Amino acid sequence: MSSTVIIGTQWGDEGKGRVVDVYAANADMVVRYQGGDNAGHTVKIGDQKYALHLIPSGIVRQKPSILGNGMVINPKSLLKEIGELEATGLTVRPHIFISEDAHLIMPYHIALDGASERAMGAGKIGTTLKGIGPAYTDKVSRTYGLRMGDLRDADYFLERLQRIVDDKNAMLTKLYGMDTTFDARAICDEYMGYYAEIKDMICDTAEMVWQARKHDRAIVFEGANATMLDVDHGTYPFVTCSTPTAGGAAVGTGIGPTAIDCVIGVVKAYTSRVGEGPFPTELKNEVGDLIRELGHEYGTTTGRPRRCGWLDICVLRKAARANGLAYLAVTHLDILDEFDEVPVCVAYDVDGRRTETFPSSLRDAEKAVPIYEIMPGWKTSTNGCRSYDDLPANARHYLDRMAELTGVPICLVTVGNERTQTIVIKEPVAL
Ligand code: GDP
Ligand code: IMO
Ligand code: MG
Repeated sequence: MSSTVIIGTQWGDEGKGRVVDVYAANADMVVRYQGGDNAGHTVKIGDQKYALHLIPSGIVRQKPSILGNGMVINPKSLLKEIGELEATGLTVRPHIFISEDAHLIMPYHIALDGASERAMGAGKIGTTLKGIGPAYTDKVSRTYGLRMGDLRDADYFLERLQRIVDDKNAMLTKLYGMDTTFDARAICDEYMGYYAEIKDMICDTAEMVWQARKHDRAIVFEGANATMLDVDHGTYPFVTCSTPTAGGAAVGTGIGPTAIDCVIGVVKAYTSRVGEGPFPTELKNEVGDLIRELGHEYGTTTGRPRRCGWLDICVLRKAARANGLAYLAVTHLDILDEFDEVPVCVAYDVDGRRTETFPSSLRDAEKAVPIYEIMPGWKTSTNGCRSYDDLPANARHYLDRMAELTGVPICLVTVGNERTQTIVIKEPVAL
């Protein structure tokens, strides 16, 4: 394993953080390449729970932790996260490297995220309200984006802000009818305060990643959000504004796609989603409620209850294609321990037509009725299993069928949230 991208195959919260933690053990650096503090990744070691939002999960193993150019970073959230991690006893600052090209999330981005969601009413996206969409919109606009490196020159930063803030205030008051307005000087002072604290971490991270690659170091790229939230490949418009799929790892760190050797897709053994948008296997009943309670399915970032449903192979087929998956890492197998039967969606019925691919049209995705293959449950706790052979026969059958239906082999299975509750099936090999 030299450079491996680890991504979510569903709608997020698959357990990417804890899977990254496994592979970070042998990595020389861990790199985030997109998203911002909309992500919430968890690593649990004994009684200690680490919640990561911006900082790569590799920090828990005290590895060099890079925040790549494809990210949007709120420096206030970053400093809060650094403080929280330091309070657990981890050394943090010397391990953090922030791309000078990463975009800044500004206070008006957060205000605009909320204003836009409120204005959309019932049609809202259900964003995390962290300002992610407005920050990426500004990046692509070229007119309004501000980057980490821009903080180095306070005069330039203030000059840019003065023009930007005028336009943002006009949007907030005239378009959204709000009375909130921002003051460029106050924002500049606030951000210069953050800069003083993080300036030693800001650097040319693309060169760092490239040098690591040239010296054949092991690099783990940590995807945030997930395939079905990808702005191109997800359930548009109910998506985030970045490219969580594996291709984003190249663009979001500054290396070429040939520098990626292996892609691992993290799969929750069932499906969850937070926010609005189509979710064909969602269970709006007591079974969905039971999965939510067993899996503690409440957002790491927002605390919102997650929508829950059965495993959807059509989603995984899409993830296999969009990411070029070499392996699946299956998490949360233990949450299915109690069920008599475990249905798996193998196809949809859309207007009387059977399809095995996830519809690209939102309308069709909303109409898709799952066609299930019913697998027998195993009715045995898997929490203590530490090898494939330890698993009950029906749990092995479930995993084998998942690999067969997706055409992607399984490299790892997890049976609890603790680091040790991990079953390594095979060591991923570079393609
Ligand atoms: P991420 O965003 O993909 O990193 O996932 P989150 O951390 O947001 O959500 C996954 C949640 O499930 C966290 O609370 C993890 O501690 C927990 N978790 C991860 N793997 C397992 C597992 O195999 N079994 C159980 N029961 N919980 C798990
Ligand atoms: P991790 O990395 C789950 C969802 C939001 C919303 C949509 C857009 O922890 O898996 P945004 O704030 O990004 O504009 O929201 O995307 N979303 C996530 N859902 N896990 C995440 O991250 C998510 N990041 C964004 O709920 O539906
Ligand atoms: Mg999460």
